[in-house]
Amino acid sequence: MNKKTIWITGASSGIGEATALKFAKEGWKVIVSARRVELLDKLSVDENIFSYPLDVTDSDKAKEVFKKIIDDHGQVDLCIFSSGTYERKSEKELDVQNIKHVIEVNFLGVINCVSAVEKYYKEKNNGHIAVVSSPVGYRGLPKSSGYTPSKAALNNFTQGIYFDFKKFNVRVTLITPGFIKTALTDKNEFKMPFLKSTNYAADQIYNGLIKKNNFEIIFPLPIKIIYKLIQILPNKLYNYLISKSVNR
Ligand SMILES: NC(=O)c1ccc[n+]([C@@H]2O[C@H](COP(=O)([O-])OP(=O)(O)OC[C@H]3O[C@@H](n4cnc5c(N)ncnc54)[C@H](OP(=O)(O)O)[C@@H]3O)[C@@H](O)[C@H]2O)c1
Repeated sequence: MNKKTIWITGASSGIGEATALKFAKEGWKVIVSARRVELLDKLSVDENIFSYPLDVTDSDKAKEVFKKIIDDHGQVDLCIFSSGTYERKSEKELDVQNIKHVIEVNFLGVINCVSAVEKYYKEKNNGHIAVVSSPVGYRGLPKSSGYTPSKAALNNFTQGIYFDFKKFNVRVTLITPGFIKTALTDKNEFKMPFLKSTNYAADQIYNGLIKKNNFEIIFPLPIKIIYKLIQILPNKLYNYLISKSVNR
């Protein structure tokens, strides 16, 4: 049987890594990309996992790597773009260099990957692109000068391309996890509500992509409910509640 193939970026650790292992366990052929080659090599000990190192900020390289994946494996059915960065210390100030870097990785890095697969998917006239962004992108937050805006842009971009790719029978999904325990969130000094494991996230992502057909995969349930409310709160109430929680 011809195995289905998935390409996952940001797969060397955290949510991307757990999702790669989940898809491999479910019998998919899994192509993993990130910068840390040694971590990708460890993953590719699994016979279903194949390492293709990539820095997503390099748009030419993203195209080159995707071409090599198609040359080597013949097809890609699903892409999950999960690369991302966050430096809590630099977020507290308007550090322009940090903001540029975060936008470069979290926003433009994903666009580089979508751009790399665009022609292939549109010609094939089917396929599936999933973007790992964040619910924090839905409204502004204090002391988040780069990360939250980068995810706001990514949420908006992903919804925009949903319409553009739909015409070509290509599905686009936005993944917005709540707090998941990874190296990225280990930098947070505050207690993270409803914190979940990477395996939990991988299961939610797999089920959302393969067993359901919603545009957004948002989890866990309390975060889903809170963010649905947050999106419709008037500015006056939202600003009051956030100011109050910051001043506590
Ligand atoms: N953890 C959470 O609570 C949470 C919640 C909402 C959304 N997210 C999002 O989930 C995604 C994964 O984050 P995580 O929590 O799993 O953190 P993580 O373990 O730090 O994973 C980040 C991944 O992105 C890769 N990456 C970073 N810069 C890259 C670059 N320039 N080129 C290619 N890959 C790059 C890293 O690999 P290399 O360093 O090897 O390149 C790593 O594999 C991110 O987009 C994050 O914003 C996380």
